[in-house]
This record gives sequence, C-alpha cells and structure tokens, in this order.
Amino acid sequence: MQIKVLVAYASKYGSTQEVAEAIAATLRESGLVVDLEPMREVKALEEYTAVVLGAPLYMLHLHKDARGFLSKHCEALTGLPVAIFALGPFHDEEEEWKEAREQLDKELAKFPWLTPIAIEIFGGKFDPAKLRFPDNLLAILPASPLRKMPASDIRDWTAIHAWASNLATQLQPALAQ
Ligand SMILES: Cc1cc2nc3c(=O)[nH]c(=O)nc-3n(C[C@H](O)[C@H](O)[C@H](O)COP(=O)(O)O)c2cc1C
Repeated sequence: MQIKVLVAYASKYGSTQEVAEAIAATLRESGLVVDLEPMREVKALEEYTAVVLGAPLYMLHLHKDARGFLSKHCEALTGLPVAIFALGPFHDEEEEWKEAREQLDKELAKFPWLTPIAIEIFGGKFDPAKLRFPDNLLAILPASPLRKMPASDIRDWTAIHAWASNLATQLQPALAQ
C-alpha cells in the first residue's frame, strides 16, 4: 500500500500556510508522498492514508474552515490517523500557551469521534499593518488585547520541523500495519 499523506490547512494571513508547507516538506524528506491543500478545496479523502490538519486560532475558536472540514469529513477521518496543529500565541509566555491549548482542546472536544495521534500548538505571527476588516477594527478597540501590539513572529521553525519529523516516524509503522 502506498503511503500518501494529506496536509490540509486553513489560513487567513498566510502564517499557518507557511507552517503547513514546512511540515509537508519535512514529511516528504522523510520519504512520504504528500499532498498540500487548503482545507476548503479538499473534496474527498479516499486516496489518503493519513491526514495532518493545521489551522490558526481566532477569537478563541479554530478557523472556521477547520471546523467545517472536521464536520464534512467526519466519516473518512474516523478511519485514518489524524495529526492536528494550531497557531496562536504571540508571546513566549506560559499563560498564553496554556490558554491557546485550552482553546484548541475545547474546539476539538466538539468532535468527540476525533482521536488525533498528535496535537500541537505553534507560536503565531502578527502583523497589524496587514489586518483586514474586521480584524483591523478589533485591533484598535480600546479593550482589545491586540491594541498597540507590535508586529511579531514567534513561529519556531526548529520545533515545527522536529514535530513533523517525529510525525513521519510515527506514521510509517502505523501505516505499515
Ligand atoms: C483578530 C485576531 C484574533 C486572534 N485570536 C486568537 C485567539 O483567540 N487565540 C490565539 O491563540 N491566537 C489568536 N490569534 C493569533 C493567530 O492565531 C495568529 O496570528 C496566527 O499566526 C494567524 O494565522 P494565519 O496567518 O494563518 O491566519 C488572533 C489573531 C488575530 C489577528
């Protein structure tokens, strides 16, 4: 059986897409055949033996494309190894990472049939100059935590490659069975 992995992502401003690209590249370097697609363009999962899903957190929720993808492909995903990553935190502060993980866990609990083989949070990217409506308005509201927040990018590429590399090791024996 050929091992073919789908890396599907949701992204508003591109930072999750870049992480998905890096993960796909690492999985390929590990010998896996990988397709990389935006979640909303994925029609069916029949040809895949494993799925990696990546989405950012927005306003305490997973990007809506990810929630839609999980609902739409519930049946097919139930029979496949699924790994999930989410982007969120802007600062290397324990509390922020804890909150992001809680947000992700709460979102995933809405899909009780889902039993991922790996779940990870990566740091996110914030560029106030690029925000579009309504995010640009949210970022200027007096009570917003984003107000006057400087641009940042705390994506840790070493951690991202290491996660993908571990995942490849995990998938190979799981798929060979
Ligand atoms: C308006 C807005 C709301 C956000 N809300 C959250 C949130 O609730 N939790 C979190 O951990 N990160 C939050 N983030 C951070 C994003 O998840 C992070 O910027 C991510 O890298 C964006 O991914 P994208 O470039 O693929 O869209 C928010 C960012 C913006 C701009």
